[in-house]
Amino acid sequence: MAFLTVEGLSASYGKVPVLNNVSLSIERGEIAALIGPSGSGKSTLLRTLVGLLRPTAGRVTIENDVVDYKSQASLRSARDRFAIVFQQYNLFQNMTALRNVTIAPTIVKKRKRSEVNGRAAELLAKVGLADKLGAYPDELSGGQQQRVAIARALALQPDILLLDEVTSALDPELVNEVLDTVRLLAADGMTMLIVSHEMGFVREVASKVVFMDAGQVVEAGPPAQIFDAPETDRLREFSAKIIRH
Ligand SMILES: Nc1ncnc2c1ncn2[C@@H]1O[C@H](COP(=O)(O)OP(=O)(O)OP(=O)(O)O)[C@@H](O)[C@H]1O
Ligand SMILES: [Mg+2]
Repeated sequence: MAFLTVEGLSASYGKVPVLNNVSLSIERGEIAALIGPSGSGKSTLLRTLVGLLRPTAGRVTIENDVVDYKSQASLRSARDRFAIVFQQYNLFQNMTALRNVTIAPTIVKKRKRSEVNGRAAELLAKVGLADKLGAYPDELSGGQQQRVAIARALALQPDILLLDEVTSALDPELVNEVLDTVRLLAADGMTMLIVSHEMGFVREVASKVVFMDAGQVVEAGPPAQIFDAPETDRLREFSAKIIRH
């Protein structure tokens, strides 16, 4: 069985259905990319996986554990296993980079600050910010702030890292430093589900690409199939549009 299995997942905002019978699977250490037009439900899928939105149907299994989104205990365990990084990194402005990374482990996991500082410094070094531990967000570039946000997510030691367009709020020259961080995590064997508009990057790092449209998975497969041999008109139209941009 795959590391993460999503079967028939549906979700709505109020009465409006947004995810419709979504199924996908990710192996341990695999990087899967979600692509699709704006409003197709990519962010909603990530939000539903972490329990920010309750599914109306379907099943999510991590290793052999079924996540029960109705039970607080199970939801907590889902939140322990997934970490999500958003496009807007939302760092605490009044805290240093180091404190932004240690805050969740100390408050959510109730660990001593002295215990988590070392690990946090290592994570910040890993994302290329060894010299910025004491810097405040407004002293960092957008790309550096996004890398702090990635280190913050890693500090929770997730099994699966969910990245939602982590480069799309950045100036073009800062995009690559964040992508380099993701490449490094990929080389480390981190299992990731990423939403990205950087198609070159998706082709390079993802072993599976999932194309969504109107809340459904339309096609999924290896990048060569999705980009070079799309099977549906909807994916062909989408590819034609992104290539023109
Ligand atoms: N908080 C919300 N309340 C109501 N509807 C929402 C909410 N967030 C998103 N939606 C709707 O759900 C649908 C899916 O949105 P979602 O944000 O998941 O799309 P997306 O694929 O991530 O798009 P984008 O590429 O623009 O980020 C859209 O029709 C959107 O308008
Ligand atoms: Mg989105």
